[in-house]
Amino acid sequence: MSDEIKARYRALKDAIIEHRKSYYQDDAPIVPDADYDALEAELKGIERDYPDLIDPESPSVTVGYAASEAFAPVKHFVPMLSLDNGFSHEDMVDFDAKIRRFLKWPDDEPLIYMCEPKIDGLSCSLTYSEGELVRAATRGDGRIGEDITENIRTIKDIPQRLSKPHPHFIEIRGEVYMTKADFESLNRSIEASEAGSDGRKKPFANPRNAAAGSLRQLDSRITAARPLRFFAYSLGGIGDDWSCETQAQLLGTLKDWGFSVNPLSRVVTGTDGLIGTFEAIQKIRDGLDYEIDGVVLKIDSMKLQDRLGFVSKAPRWALARKFPAQQVSTLCLKIDIQVGRTGNLTPVARLEPVFVGGVMVSNVSLHNADEIKRLDLREGDRVIVQRAGDVIPQIVSIILDQDHDQRPSYQFPQTCPCPLATPVVRDQRLSGDEAVARRCSGEHECPQQKREHLKYVVSRKVLDIEGLGEKQIQAFLDEGIITQISDLYTLKDRELNGEIALKDRDGFGEQSVTNLFAAIDKARTIPLERFIAALGIRQVGETTAKLLARAYGSEAQFYESMRKIIMGDEEQIAQLSHLDQIGPGVVDALTAYFQDEARLSAYHDWRAHLTIEDCEPEAKNTPLSGKIIVFTGTLEAMTRDEAKAIAERLGAKVAGSVSSKTDLVVLGEGAGSKGKKALDLGLTIMDEARWLALLNEC
Ligand code: IVH
Repeated sequence: MSDEIKARYRALKDAIIEHRKSYYQDDAPIVPDADYDALEAELKGIERDYPDLIDPESPSVTVGYAASEAFAPVKHFVPMLSLDNGFSHEDMVDFDAKIRRFLKWPDDEPLIYMCEPKIDGLSCSLTYSEGELVRAATRGDGRIGEDITENIRTIKDIPQRLSKPHPHFIEIRGEVYMTKADFESLNRSIEASEAGSDGRKKPFANPRNAAAGSLRQLDSRITAARPLRFFAYSLGGIGDDWSCETQAQLLGTLKDWGFSVNPLSRVVTGTDGLIGTFEAIQKIRDGLDYEIDGVVLKIDSMKLQDRLGFVSKAPRWALARKFPAQQVSTLCLKIDIQVGRTGNLTPVARLEPVFVGGVMVSNVSLHNADEIKRLDLREGDRVIVQRAGDVIPQIVSIILDQDHDQRPSYQFPQTCPCPLATPVVRDQRLSGDEAVARRCSGEHECPQQKREHLKYVVSRKVLDIEGLGEKQIQAFLDEGIITQISDLYTLKDRELNGEIALKDRDGFGEQSVTNLFAAIDKARTIPLERFIAALGIRQVGETTAKLLARAYGSEAQFYESMRKIIMGDEEQIAQLSHLDQIGPGVVDALTAYFQDEARLSAYHDWRAHLTIEDCEPEAKNTPLSGKIIVFTGTLEAMTRDEAKAIAERLGAKVAGSVSSKTDLVVLGEGAGSKGKKALDLGLTIMDEARWLALLNEC
């Protein structure tokens, strides 16, 4: 065995113990759970390959972290152990196979399991003597925990006294947790106050830390003020006047005694049952109001559990099947600037690719310079990346290391990364996110802006020209085959007269060129709102384009009004400014666009190839007229864009975020915080089936 392996083994042991201290003792982990799990898995791998190396005190055979001396020590009647982790369906199948082998279980008889959500909180042991809660303890190192009896008494979910009949003595275990909503409001109040009631100034990183930090308090009045909850799921020591047959029966009895047990727990049969239930719970994970990080699979029969027993620190009869991590750490290799289609400059972190929330992530938008400052992100830093549900990936924070201070802090470039290297400018009149945005002053001359603009114009959102990808657009621009949108419409003629030869190019052939021309021909007719959105006017995205299209009705009207506006026509300017949701930034941007000779000529060139459909000024009167709708999560029957278009056709307004003004929230699969907010606000909520039924009525 090489010295290198020995050194790695030692380093892993030290790192794991250090991380356990941060997690269990300080309630403030430094790395995401997935990073920690990876260290444990690596340690176990080395111990498997080199058993001679195993240290009897290895973290592979110990759990948690020594109880803090700030609390009185409590010796558990039965040790509080941990669970083995599984990360794939295969791990579940192996788990079942191992149990079968151990029990010599007949091949044709499936095993019965209990599947329970794995609550991401902290485990506690509650001792009841003659039905009275007499003692409560954290897990500590599994043998000795911390006495938190007075704190536990403040939790409303936990009965002080068990309903009858109950055993003389029983130790009940479960998880103390905080809901996502309570966690957010707690953090808001910590941020709002000079210092929290316990002098706390720093918000908690996640609900688990908030629960742990709130429970492990020396003053139980602080715990009392924190919204903690409890799910009961297992037993420790039991008097000999009571027993039960199955885990399902135990959960039922815990309920009878007055505990909350998780309502999603299910008894299932065989590996198909395990896999099916795991997937079902995973699907609704983001919609739950508390954090779960996996599903705990347990042999349902207590007799079989006894026969299976324990290996070192975990039962042979249970497995924690973890969800793919929603937070992982990786390296930020570089910060690049991306030029948007209207010239906005967005910093993007180039990452060492990581698998997070079920997808590979290598680029994450950093939004603007202020966000980089807030994170204090520097190239070369290790960062925590998060992707939950269908939310786009983001950088949550950096992991401070010794070298961070030595790395130069990020300077937003003074010039655009495009070949023109034009100066970067900031808009003064804007508010919110826009105010911190910087942009390339090269306008449409900037080749990168031009490419992004063209990419957008041919995308499904505007002209829907299939077969023109980023590569082709770049090549067409580089070779001057296209310099502006209108050039798309002359491609066919130029091909026919031999000026260009698309069919001979890489990535094209006879058929694809025919298809391309057909798609371009189809794109000779477009609705007014798409035309306006496609012009690439700053501040005029799809929503604003729609507002303008509704207000002006036809391209002729729109153009006429814009012409008057640039001449300073007060009445037209006032009319535009009074449109709902149109701010001074939009008026400025429209004026700048229509005053620009080059852009105006590109406008007319394109216009000459188009039939632009008028926009109906007011939608018909339907049950959805005037309603503000929010779609969240993934819909099955239609894309969100389609749902939006249908709703708008029926006179509704579709908003991106939930507020008290929202009339209706449609929840798709995996709906998360928006659904929760809608619930909190007491708004009308419907699932996709009810939404489809409502459409039928319209
Ligand atoms: S059963 C012998 N059931 O997960 C251990 N644990 O990673 C029996 N946990 O320490 C534990 N939800 O804090 C069990 N439904 C559940 C659970 C659960 C969360 C926690 C518990 C345990 C950890 C192991």
